[in-house]
Amino acid sequence: MMAEVDLLRHYPRDRRKLAAPRSKDPANRAAALKFGEEYFDGRREQGYGGYRYDGRWVPIARDIVAHFGLRAGHHVLDVGCAKGFLVKDLMLVCPGLRVYGLDISEYALRSAEPEARGRLVRGTADQLPFRAGAFDVVLCINVIHNLDRPRCLTALREIERLAPGRGYVRVDAYRNEAEREIFLEWVLTAVTFLTPEAWRALLVEAGYTGDYSWTILEPDPDVNDFGRNGERPAVAGEQRP
Ligand SMILES: C[S@@+](CC[C@H](N)C(=O)[O-])C[C@H]1O[C@@H](n2cnc3c(N)ncnc32)[C@H](O)[C@@H]1O
Repeated sequence: MMAEVDLLRHYPRDRRKLAAPRSKDPANRAAALKFGEEYFDGRREQGYGGYRYDGRWVPIARDIVAHFGLRAGHHVLDVGCAKGFLVKDLMLVCPGLRVYGLDISEYALRSAEPEARGRLVRGTADQLPFRAGAFDVVLCINVIHNLDRPRCLTALREIERLAPGRGYVRVDAYRNEAEREIFLEWVLTAVTFLTPEAWRALLVEAGYTGDYSWTILEPDPDVNDFGRNGERPAVAGEQRP
């Protein structure tokens, strides 16, 4: 019940260079927050800088299947599924698994992987259009920090409602001032970012009993001066847009 598990440990690190800390420019944040083409497939300063399928979710999908003991016939929902990469790869590594996705971005759904089409719906994490207990597992990776605190709580309750004790939530977090600074320079869309302790308190307040992990931006020991040379910081376990 409610364990910290890094199911994204196989996510590759990203080292693309940026001209300047991008979050300082309000135009970059405004563009990203539309969760449209600019965010997914526009310039790196405004989002992913090209969100394309490359199979990187396959090992993560395997870890998810193993962790939750998923098999053919089980139902999984990926909240904030974007273009459905994880939806596709879960079905690839576990044939017969019934995987669905939900995202707020019309652009992402429109540009989704063919294998995921027909399985994705448009909606918001804090109002999931499914009945209680409808899923064996609900995943929500790097999504709810985009909501303010009250909506974060609602989203967590929604995940719990659909799959009691069988959620997996990952959110942006920082452990110290240096990591917080990196966040402020790098993160475009998160509005709720907290320390792991504060997040745990929020999970408890929501009555969430599933598993969780953090996306933490760390100073890169090989670079170590983000903000001066414009290099992207290292990401613990996961790539951030
Ligand atoms: C950082 S991306 C993560 C995508 C994917 N889960 C991953 O880990 O690669 C955030 C995603 O959340 C979606 N999103 C933002 N706000 C949302 C909301 N209120 N409800 C559902 N999805 C949302 C965005 O469109 C985007 O696809």
